[in-house]
Order: sequence, then structure tokens, then C-alpha cells
Amino acid sequence: MSNVGEYAIVVENLVKKYDDLIAVNNISLKIKRGEIFAFLGPNGAGKTTAIEILEGIRKKTSGKAFVLGKDIDKRKELDQIKKIIGILPQEFNTHLNLTVKENLRFWSRMYGKNIPIEDLIALVKLEDKANVQYKNLSGGLKRRLGIAISLVNDPELVFLDEPTTGLDPRARRETWAIIENLKEQGKTIFLTTHYMEEAHVLADTVGIIHKGEIMDIGTPTELIDKHGGANKIIVRCNDQETRDQIHNILFEMGPMENDEGDIVISAKKKGSISKVVDLLEENDVPYSDIVTQRPTLEDIFLALTGEILITSTETEDKS
Ligand SMILES: Nc1ncnc2c1ncn2[C@@H]1O[C@H](COP(=O)(O)OP(=O)(O)OP(=O)(O)O)[C@@H](O)[C@H]1O
Ligand SMILES: [Mg+2]
Repeated sequence: MSNVGEYAIVVENLVKKYDDLIAVNNISLKIKRGEIFAFLGPNGAGKTTAIEILEGIRKKTSGKAFVLGKDIDKRKELDQIKKIIGILPQEFNTHLNLTVKENLRFWSRMYGKNIPIEDLIALVKLEDKANVQYKNLSGGLKRRLGIAISLVNDPELVFLDEPTTGLDPRARRETWAIIENLKEQGKTIFLTTHYMEEAHVLADTVGIIHKGEIMDIGTPTELIDKHGGANKIIVRCNDQETRDQIHNILFEMGPMENDEGDIVISAKKKGSISKVVDLLEENDVPYSDIVTQRPTLEDIFLALTGEILITSTETEDKS
């Protein structure tokens, strides 16, 4: 492979087996320098295994991988990789009794190249917490310190393994802003997530990963255009009687119901939207709202795997 250095990451036919279990099943991908790449997939998909092989933490079974142009099979190059990447591990933890500032000082000493601690604190917006012990930070703030620690060596490429899992929606959005800011500084970000919204909002390129295999890779828009099918028409209603009435009236259009009790109709035929509105109006149906929706990455995951991607309903960080 001659042009591996053009990319932040090149992976070819990577395989990882744990005894009989194939955790990473022959994956290949290329990540451009300066982009945000997201692995989107559920628990056990192989995300952590794959990125920890690239970080030099786990050993692969077979395949090739180049990180910032360096070959992970070559001992010396792997040592160099470890110095120029940043890592937020999925199970991030650091010294409980040290403050934010002290923790950053501790990790900074491990590297020859590092950036001022004040800059790191500002980058993750922890100015107010600089002198608070790690153990007294909320879950979201702990994770933010973790991101700051991943940046102490001013890495060109940062791996963030589930940077927002378990955070409440506000903390999640704050972390997204920090990650976007890292991209603006020219860094390449490789993150993993099982939140489709996170992948959609942040990632330039998404790799949908399921049972160790990459089902497809593309920009969120490309994936939705390719696998998403038609827009959906969603009719919201407040009571069962209205719901039953709509099912009857729109029967021919194959109405379905979502978890919220809304009626969902595929807009695959031209004129579907006006037909739905006309039928509801003609019959004086007291619906509360009608909207159309483009398919989401969640729909894409379902289309590609036949399974549902569990997403943003489980948010439990109590700060
Ligand atoms: N050290 C290990 N030994 C044996 N099996 C492992 C080991 N690490 C992971 N596995 C298995 O490999 C598969 C992939 O695990 P991995 O942690 O890479 O998934 P993941 O996509 O990161 O999941 P999550 O979203 O839960 O973090 C799982 O079936 C897991 O149980
Ligand atoms: Mg994981």
C-alpha cells in the first residue's frame, strides 16, 4: 500500500478472534485526515476491540492497519503511533483524589510534547472546576476531563470510545461542541457511539458496525439516501378512538404505529402526503399534528441489520 500516509487511518481486512468468537470480522476502512469518523453500533458490535487494536492496546488476529501512515505491525512505528494519538477509553478513570488541574499535570508529565494545562481546561470548559477533585465531578464533567487528558500530547488523531454514553442530553450536547471544536483545530477524531443522533450530528463519515462487520460506510446523507427508503408521514393523535379512526380511513396506505402512539405512513407513492391530509380533513378526524420525516440513521441500522438500534432513551447521568 503506497498512499497510506494520505489518510489518518487505513484498515484492510482486520480480524480479531477471542477463541471461537469473531469480534471483528474482516473490516476495511479509510479515514481522511481532519474528519470526524464514527463507528455506530450496539453493545458487543466490536467497536472497542477494533479501535483498541488501532491504539496498540489489543493484538489483532490478522489484517493490516496504518495509523497516521505508520504500520501497526512494526514495533517501532507502533511506539511512535502511541506518542502521537490521544485516547479516551470507554472505561475512563483517573486519580480520584487529584483535582482536575493536578490530574492534567500528572498526565502531561508522561509526554515530551504537551500543551499548557490552562488551555486544556479551557478547551473542555472546566475552568470553574479546575481545583475540584476528580471524585467530586459529575459523570459528564469526568468525561470532559477524560477528553482533556486525551489531548495532553497535542495529538493529531484522537480516539473517543463512547464519549457521551450515559450522559443527559444537555451534557451530551456540550461534549459535541467540544468535539466539533477539536475538529476545527484540525484534529482527526475517531469516535464510537450507539446514539444515531450523535453520529448524524458529529460525523463526516459513519461506519455502521454490527456483529463485527461493517454493514456500510458513508456520510449520514449518503447512507440515508441509499438505504432509507421513503419519507414518513407521521400523524399525531391523543386518544385511542382517533387512532382507530385513522387506521380505518388510511387502511389502504398501510398505516403503522410507533412507540409514541403516532400513526406512521410511508410516503413512497407520489401524492401520499396530500392524500393523507385530504382524507383526514374530509372525515373531520381530530388529529393533533401531522409532519413528514426523513429516515434517520436508526432506520438505516434497521434496514441494514434487521435489528433495532437502542438509542437516546437511556440517559441517566445525575449530575
Ligand atoms: N477480552 C475479551 N475476551 C473475550 N471476548 C471479548 C473480549 N473483549 C470483548 N469481547 C467480546 O467481543 C465482542 C465485541 O466486544 P467490544 O467490546 O469490542 O464491543 P463494543 O462494540 O465496544 O460494545 P459496547 O458498545 O458494549 O462497548 C463482544 O461479544 C465481547 O463480549
Ligand atoms: Mg465498547
